Amino acid sequence: SENRTMHINADKSPLQVFVRAKKKINDIYVEIEEYVAETTTFINALHAEAEIVDKAERELFESYVLKVAGIREVLARDHMKVAFFGRTSNGKSSVINAMLREKILPSGIGHTTNCFCQVEGSDSSEAYLMKEGSEEKLNVVNIKQLANALCQEKLSESSLVRIFWPRERCNLLRDDVVFVDSPGVDVSANLDDWIDNHCLNADVFVLVLNAESTMTRAEKQFFHTVSQKLSKPNIFILNNRWDASANEPESQESLDKVRSQHTERCIDFLTKELKVTNEKEAAERVFFVSAREALQARIEEAKGNSPSQGAIAEGFHARYFEFQDFERKFEECISKSAVQTKFEKHSSRGKTLSGDMRSMLDNIYERITIFRNLKLDQKTLLSERIQGTETEMMNVTREMKLKIHNMVEEVEQKVSKALNEEI
Ligand code: GTP
Ligand code: MG
Repeated sequence: SENRTMHINADKSPLQVFVRAKKKINDIYVEIEEYVAETTTFINALHAEAEIVDKAERELFESYVLKVAGIREVLARDHMKVAFFGRTSNGKSSVINAMLREKILPSGIGHTTNCFCQVEGSDSSEAYLMKEGSEEKLNVVNIKQLANALCQEKLSESSLVRIFWPRERCNLLRDDVVFVDSPGVDVSANLDDWIDNHCLNADVFVLVLNAESTMTRAEKQFFHTVSQKLSKPNIFILNNRWDASANEPESQESLDKVRSQHTERCIDFLTKELKVTNEKEAAERVFFVSAREALQARIEEAKGNSPSQGAIAEGFHARYFEFQDFERKFEECISKSAVQTKFEKHSSRGKTLSGDMRSMLDNIYERITIFRNLKLDQKTLLSERIQGTETEMMNVTREMKLKIHNMVEEVEQKVSKALNEEI
């Protein structure tokens, strides 16, 4: 059935690498959480019964409960973030719309993006937006309303509007990709603030250029600053409006020349100027596309028509293919990068946490052993009943200790396995 095909295709998406890793790490934390809860009960009982565990130790253990809960919360909110930059009117909003397969962000004359707009998936079936510093959910029925809402208020250009779009309407949103659209880099004096406020946690950057002109100083400067603040950011370059080249009277030969000149400049920029990547990888990061055409093609597709009905100029198929090729490479890059930066950190914290729990229980076990031997030495003073309790406590502690040791091993194995499989 159609549903099944959609499902199979969606699972082939490279984004699933992230989705699976997130699930695996979460399962590991569910397990840690269970052990922590069980151990807490045990430690509290020890404290009450025999005062082997002191108050500070109990509190320390309780802090693990909070830590695990905190990590699980962060984990649930983890996503892959891509941010788009470039000069005004190069087509940043159009590229995002094409990727989302729907005209969500306002674009074109009169709809210049004047603040940061973040599009993210929501479980609700209706779209809404939230402005920075407010918890109010503003309903968005259609694009016109969204455009008006964005124009109406005097928003500072570095403030952020979050647009929550139903996950079910787009695979990228369903798989936790978050899009950030920005005002043109040429119109702002606050690029440093932009980077500090919106870019430091981006997994991928997309520079949207106008293929009809060359890269500007403002565009270059922006990415110089980004790469000073972040070590080796992942940058894709889209030479947009490539459809316009088809309307030029030039020969194919001279168009090929333009294309290879642009390509060379983009690769040099990534490798020699920014030094963020090597030649081979850079060649996989530069594309010639038409966002407007790709969006139109997808809107036709959604209506059940052939995508070529969205064509703007000759050469549609090659450009549309290149847009899809960009999306594929982008998905591979963003999921891999997000797994590395986010989950490696979560899993090493998980290992540390379980390791700490282990050494704490080892200590307690040792103390109980000493305590018990001491009591046995004073055998005459002890009734049989008390001796029995001592031995039982000893056994329970040993059991607990073994459990935690097993857990630490299991967590270590699972974490290594999850990371090996995904990276
Ligand atoms: P700002 O928000 O003002 O910084 O601009 P932007 O970079 O978001 O550009 P936007 O997507 O608003 O596009 C500007 C205009 O260019 C719109 O009218 C688009 O339809 C048009 N446009 C965008 N991409 C293409 C393209 O690939 N080909 C053609 N022919 N037009 C395009
Ligand atoms: Mg825009």
